[in-house]
Amino acid sequence: MSWGLIREMGHVAIQTTDVDAAVADATQLLGLRVTERTGNDVNLAAGNVHHELVYVDSNVNGIHSLGLIARDGEALRTIRKRVEAENLHIVSDKAYSAGVQDGFSFIGPEGWIFEIYVGMQENISREPTFGPNRYGHINFHPQDVVGMKNFLERVLDFRLSDVIGDDFAYFMRCNPDHHGIALIAGRGTFHHHAWEAQSIADLGKLGDRLHLAGRELIWGPVRHGAGHNIAAYYVEASGAVVELYTDLEQIYDDARPPIKWGADDNWWNMWSSFRPDSFRTFGIPPVTNRR
Ligand SMILES: [Fe+2]
Repeated sequence: MSWGLIREMGHVAIQTTDVDAAVADATQLLGLRVTERTGNDVNLAAGNVHHELVYVDSNVNGIHSLGLIARDGEALRTIRKRVEAENLHIVSDKAYSAGVQDGFSFIGPEGWIFEIYVGMQENISREPTFGPNRYGHINFHPQDVVGMKNFLERVLDFRLSDVIGDDFAYFMRCNPDHHGIALIAGRGTFHHHAWEAQSIADLGKLGDRLHLAGRELIWGPVRHGAGHNIAAYYVEASGAVVELYTDLEQIYDDARPPIKWGADDNWWNMWSSFRPDSFRTFGIPPVTNRR
């Protein structure tokens, strides 16, 4: 169910200098499965789709593109018209991703490449897995957070769910999930991609797998105020942060006004005011010099 031109979050594509280590993290720590290898790309998924995460073999670590699924073909064409009206640069007239029927990509504000598409192939998992249900959201740190929020509302029909402080952070949705895209004012980097688990027990199991691998959670489990999800985080091989979460607020009331939090209102954790100082220093930039 969605009201606007974007039906749901599609995928995140990450360029990485060590694709084998990235795939090992995604399969052995997070529990995704490899669905297809095409050229320099490794496609992975949690749900029954062709991909929700793509690693691109590269000489740099950075975000290749952010994939969003349009409601239908007409919505795809409407978005294309809006993108052209904004004089944004179209980098591909067709979907870059394998396994999707139609799409295009363009460079949005601050160099982030968005890929909009319809018709992703099914890929049915028949193996039991400890992995998450599905890809859920991204969190990135624009330098102009208001400009990015306005762009997402104006061009892609995202709505505002929660606001933090005085133009500090915006949580935005394209369907009932409280946020598909979270924006926190920062230095222009991508912070995390997030995956929905069935229960908080899965977050404990993630901690156990990290421990066995000599790694660790960098934060959590915590109960976020904004979005209400219980979340835990680690850093993957590419340098991006990965979130596993459960119990995210679902918004079915279109008239629900945005919730406003003061900057010091414990919006980051209802259970404790502690925040590791290093948490927001992780992340990777967009790679606009592709491949
Ligand atoms: Fe998140």
